[in-house]
Formats: sequence, structure tokens, C-alpha cells
Amino acid sequence: MTQRPRLSVIGTGYLGATHAVCMVELGYEVIGLDVDQAKIEALRAGRIPFFEPGLPELLAKHIDSGRLRFTTDYAEVAEFADVHFVCVGTPQQKGQYAADLTYVESAFAALAKHLTRKVLVVGKSTVPAGTAVRMAELLTELAPNMGVELAWNPEFLREGFAVEDTLRPDRLVFGVHSEWAEQTIRSAFAPVIEAGTPVIVTDFATAELVKVAANSFLATKISFINAMAEVCEATGADVTQLADAIGHDVRIGRKFLNAGLGFGGGCLPKDIRAFIARAGELGVDQAVSFLRDVDEINLRRRARTVELGLDLNDGSYRGTQVAVLGAAFKPNSDDVRDSPALDVAAAIGRRGADVRLYDPEANANARRLHPELTYADSLDEAVSGADLVMLLTEWQEFRSMDPEIIGNKVRKRNVVDGRNVLDPVEWRGAGWIYRSLGRP
Ligand SMILES: NC(=O)c1ccc[n+]([C@@H]2O[C@H](COP(=O)([O-])OP(=O)(O)OC[C@H]3O[C@@H](n4cnc5c(N)ncnc54)[C@H](O)[C@@H]3O)[C@@H](O)[C@H]2O)c1
Repeated sequence: MTQRPRLSVIGTGYLGATHAVCMVELGYEVIGLDVDQAKIEALRAGRIPFFEPGLPELLAKHIDSGRLRFTTDYAEVAEFADVHFVCVGTPQQKGQYAADLTYVESAFAALAKHLTRKVLVVGKSTVPAGTAVRMAELLTELAPNMGVELAWNPEFLREGFAVEDTLRPDRLVFGVHSEWAEQTIRSAFAPVIEAGTPVIVTDFATAELVKVAANSFLATKISFINAMAEVCEATGADVTQLADAIGHDVRIGRKFLNAGLGFGGGCLPKDIRAFIARAGELGVDQAVSFLRDVDEINLRRRARTVELGLDLNDGSYRGTQVAVLGAAFKPNSDDVRDSPALDVAAAIGRRGADVRLYDPEANANARRLHPELTYADSLDEAVSGADLVMLLTEWQEFRSMDPEIIGNKVRKRNVVDGRNVLDPVEWRGAGWIYRSLGRP
């Protein structure tokens, strides 16, 4: 294996496009492949087809370097690369908890059929434990007698911080079954390892489980504080003060203790559900049965947010104009997959509200899923004439709203702070009726 292996990235979505561009920044030659022709054309034209801070600049820097190209042709990828990263989606199956592995299976199969020499194939997609073993068998079956090997390298990047997380991850996990595979994957991350990033070398199953365990922990922490918010609502206590107070304990920590509308996106919800499904198949469903509560607590916050707005609208949304601020599942992203904000917007729309939704980046993605809602091009346009303002994704633009300025645009000064990011004293002082999750 050369010091600097040539890399391919298969599946150039949120994870794959980021990985491809960042690996070029780290000094590698990279080819990216996707089955979505439009995505590949956008990337070739130097355009990132989603919102991720810093990524367009990096793509622009490298697109003409000759070290980064994009294709839809598996033969070209197989010919070019020594290490192939598989980054395709693993969404939730329709009507079930389990992950849909058809994209992973078809990507491995398509690649394997085109391989002509010994290479390392690295799975990066989040998959249920046991998938890697099956993919290793598939490689042996479809690319026989070449000694092709597999590694599993779960990805921990956060949308909104994806570039930083890829260039300077807090750890690397390599699931491998041979010394050659370990050395080869190390050579594909050499600059990151030389920078001092901790490396944890495991077997396949541990590498697969690390990712779902990490996401289960994060989801549990969020649902824990949201469960406390439910209790706070029943007692008149303030969950934000409670979080500050318990968060000072270093064993607990303040991060991921922001009570509010809960988690969403293309990872946490489907990953904990897939974990529940896989644990059931393995006969250890009791071990993760708490994740069902975590999921239910999370979804209850959405229903509660709808109720808070209903209270402020005198028991009915019908005929009222509601400004919904935020559609992305979190700020600094345009990702609306399983977005709590968009879910709430759609729910109040179904109850008869005239929803005017504004998100700084996610309007287009939201419109594709919910064309029935009205989309505003600015904060001003969304709040003009509103009977109720609902802050559902905590973009900086919304956190820093001036209650007086916004107050002069709305019809009624009613606000639901779904993320506990506004100052209730300031907003009430400006004559707003302020409601939030877990605070009096
Ligand atoms: N988005 C994140 O923040 C993140 C973080 C860590 C892990 N992950 C995991 O990474 C994986 C990808 O997630 P994502 O958010 O990038 O999804 P995504 O939907 O944005 O991207 C997946 C891409 O794979 C492509 N694809 C599907 N089948 C293919 C095939 N056979 N060959 C080539 N390309 C194919 C799709 O066209 C799409 O562009 C998932 O398993 C996810 O759980 C995502």
C-alpha cells in the first residue's frame, strides 16, 4: 500500500460530500460517486447541494485542483481507488423500526462487481450490528480471489460543524479483522492521526455498536431533561435553572441538557429505533427497552408544543395566522428529515392555522415535504400580521430577535419559545404572552 492511498467516497450526501471534500483538504486524491446524477452534476459544478457552513469554500478551493472528481460510474471508482468509503443512507424502513439496508447492500454489490485488485472497503454508514460481517461475505462472494478486505469506521460528524468534525474529529474508530486492514485505514487517515486524534481499534461489531451507543446516549440525555421539563410544567419549576444547576456537576455536564422541542434529523431518531429493532432480533430487547421511552418523551414534546400554541390561540388554530420560525431539525443545517419544527408546523396546519413558515436555509427542503404550508422569504414576512409566533429551531437570527421590533409587526403579541432561547422577562416586559416548554 502506498503512503497516500487514493480514496473513493460512495454516496455523496451530507456525510459523503463532506468526507470527500475534507479528505482532499487533508492531501488525498479523491473520487466521489453517487447514483443521483443531479447531485453529481452540482458537485462537479462546484456546488454543495445542501447547507453546511465552510463546505462550499473548501469545494471551491479544490474543485480545479485535479485531486477531486465526481462520477456516477462504479467502474471508474473501482479502477481509481485503493480505499473505498461507503457513505450511503440507512433510513428507517417504512412502517418499521429497522434500518433499510438496501442502499448499503447495493453499493457494496455494485462496487464489488467492478473490483479487479486487492483494496480496502470501509463502511461509514450507520448500520445495525452484524451488517459488516455480511458485507465482508458479499465482497468475498462478488470479488473472489483478490483478498479484498473490509473495515468499519463509524462517523460522528455533526451537521453544522461537519467540516471541523471531519478535519479534527475527537476520535477515530476502526473496526478491522487484520493487520493489513488496520495499517491501510491508518494510512487513509494519516494526517488526522499525526495531529494526535485518539484511535480505537475494534472488531466489526464493536465499531458498529459504538455509533448507535453514542447516539442512544445523546438521545437519552435530551429526553432526560425533557422528561424533567414535563415534571417542571406540573410543579411550576423552571427546567432551564434545573439544567444549569445539575449541569455544574462534571459527572453530568451541561451539554445536551437544553430542554425544548427535542431531537430530530436523519440520525438520532432512526438510529435509536434501528437499535431497538436489532436488539429484538438479538434477543436483548430488554437491554434497550428504555429507548422506547426516550423516543416517546421526545415525540410528546411536539404534541405539547402544539398544545401551548393552542392555549395562546384560545383553543383553536382555525382562522389564525401563525408564524413558524424554523423548519430544519437544528440550526446551521437545511436538513428537515424527521424535523420536530416541521412536524409541529404541519400539525398546526392540519388544525386549520394559516402557517407562515420561515427558515434561513431549509425552506426549499421543507416545501418539498409540505407544499401545503406557506413559506416566507424573511423573518419580517413570516411575522407580519401573525396571531402567534412559534420559535421552533434556534437559529441565531431568531435568538436575537428584538421583542419590540417583532411586536410592531404582529397582530397579537403571543409567542411560544420551543427551544427556551428567548428571555421571558424581556419578552413579557414588552407585552408578550410568553410560553415555553418546562418554564413557568
Ligand atoms: N448526516 C449526518 O450528520 C451523519 C452523521 C453520521 C453518520 N451518518 C450516517 O451516514 C449515512 C449517510 O447519511 P447522510 O446523512 O449522508 O445521507 P444522505 O441521504 O444525505 O446521503 C446518502 C447518499 O447516498 C446515495 N446513494 C444511495 N444509494 C447509493 C448507491 N447504491 N450507490 C451510490 N450512492 C448511493 C444517495 O443518492 C445519497 O446522495 C447514514 O447511515 C447516516 O446514518 C450521517
